[in-house]
Amino acid sequence: MGTARVVFDRWDGRYAERMRDVRSSAVRDLFAAASRSDIISFAGGMPAVDHVPAKTAAGAAHDAILEQGVTALQYGSSEGRPELRRVIVELMAEIGVRVTLDDIVATAGAQQGLDLLAKVFIDPGDTIITEGPTYVGALQAFSAYQPNVVCIPMDDDGMRVDLLEEELKRLGVRGAKFIYTIPNFQNPGGVTLTAPRRRRLLELARDYDIPVIEDDPYGRLRFEGGHVKPLRALDDDVIYLGTFSKIFAPGLRLGWMTAPKPILTKVLLAKQAADLCGSAFVQVTAERYFLGTRWRRVLQGLTRTYAERRNAMLEALDEHFPAEAHWTRPEGGFFVWVTLPEFLDAKAMLAEAVEQGVTYVPGDSFFPDGRTGRNCMRLAFCYAEPDDIREGVRRLGEVLEDRLELYRAFIVAGALPGRISEGAA
Ligand SMILES: Cc1ncc(COP(=O)(O)O)c(C=O)c1O
Repeated sequence: MGTARVVFDRWDGRYAERMRDVRSSAVRDLFAAASRSDIISFAGGMPAVDHVPAKTAAGAAHDAILEQGVTALQYGSSEGRPELRRVIVELMAEIGVRVTLDDIVATAGAQQGLDLLAKVFIDPGDTIITEGPTYVGALQAFSAYQPNVVCIPMDDDGMRVDLLEEELKRLGVRGAKFIYTIPNFQNPGGVTLTAPRRRRLLELARDYDIPVIEDDPYGRLRFEGGHVKPLRALDDDVIYLGTFSKIFAPGLRLGWMTAPKPILTKVLLAKQAADLCGSAFVQVTAERYFLGTRWRRVLQGLTRTYAERRNAMLEALDEHFPAEAHWTRPEGGFFVWVTLPEFLDAKAMLAEAVEQGVTYVPGDSFFPDGRTGRNCMRLAFCYAEPDDIREGVRRLGEVLEDRLELYRAFIVAGALPGRISEGAA
């Protein structure tokens, strides 16, 4: 990565205060590098849309125009077409959640759901609770509303609910506006919140009277292990965000939210202000796709593909990464989270990695303070082919080995560096 280009902004000083802390998403910034053909990208969490049969998708879009053109090309209702919400009711039932049409609002991806919830809940200075690390897009959506973000660390079993409890004791009843969690194959951690911890999280949320937002884009992409019931299946008060991005295609920009009625009413008002209504054309296309039977086989194929890619990445990490590094072993989803020795700086290493033809997202992007997690990196295994994954991990292993050699040289010289940072190598 070259140095960021500073653009003179003659409108500086006239923007709303709320834009002050909104940072560009590091993942979006890496898209440019990721699109270079000589670079193996572990950066963006991009679904393998080339595995969605073009003919099936085209058929659904074709039917939407030819058979339902009058509604597909018209403004629709703000909550989304009832036919689409019926499809969503079925999808939710399959993962153990019982909802009705009235419990659902269709959104422009789960991302819009996050933005709308932030708009509805957060005043400047309010405390919200997230996992640490957490999804950059959520941090970006929340930060415009100027919250104080408290991050709860995770281990291999997901959010440390014992630490959540400590934090809640400190904050008190209603001391935070909400708890945001990605319980399945967390982005970026790759870990899954266990069933006992899910129950404990809900108990704590109830005791401290704090709403829970469950963001679940990856739940249906499980490679091994048993299905763990969503939080929403255990408690009707949970706000649940779902999406078609990973089970069909992100290009649709279509997702949904289920929430208790009063919250949904507020969200709907915020949504009307944002877009009046979602795209009826996209909604009819999704209905058509999911009313057919092919999507199940496509989803099975996608899951198999991601499992192969995960296996390739884990094997290559075992082979090429130094013993000092540790990483998670996701049972599904898109991401592996790597923790390097404290003194290594994944952000400072990125330029060298790109030079070697591989890219990833440095860990600090997933924390609101932009400092924590500097010795970590997120590796997305969803996009590259297995051979490229093995080669990319090998290249990255070499970059790491270079850094470690430098560190060892420091030790031999009797000078232990704090963090090997920008100035080094
Ligand atoms: C945890 C999480 N939430 C939300 C989203 C956004 O999904 P959508 O494409 O539905 O807006 C993503 C996308 O990667 C994600 O990883």
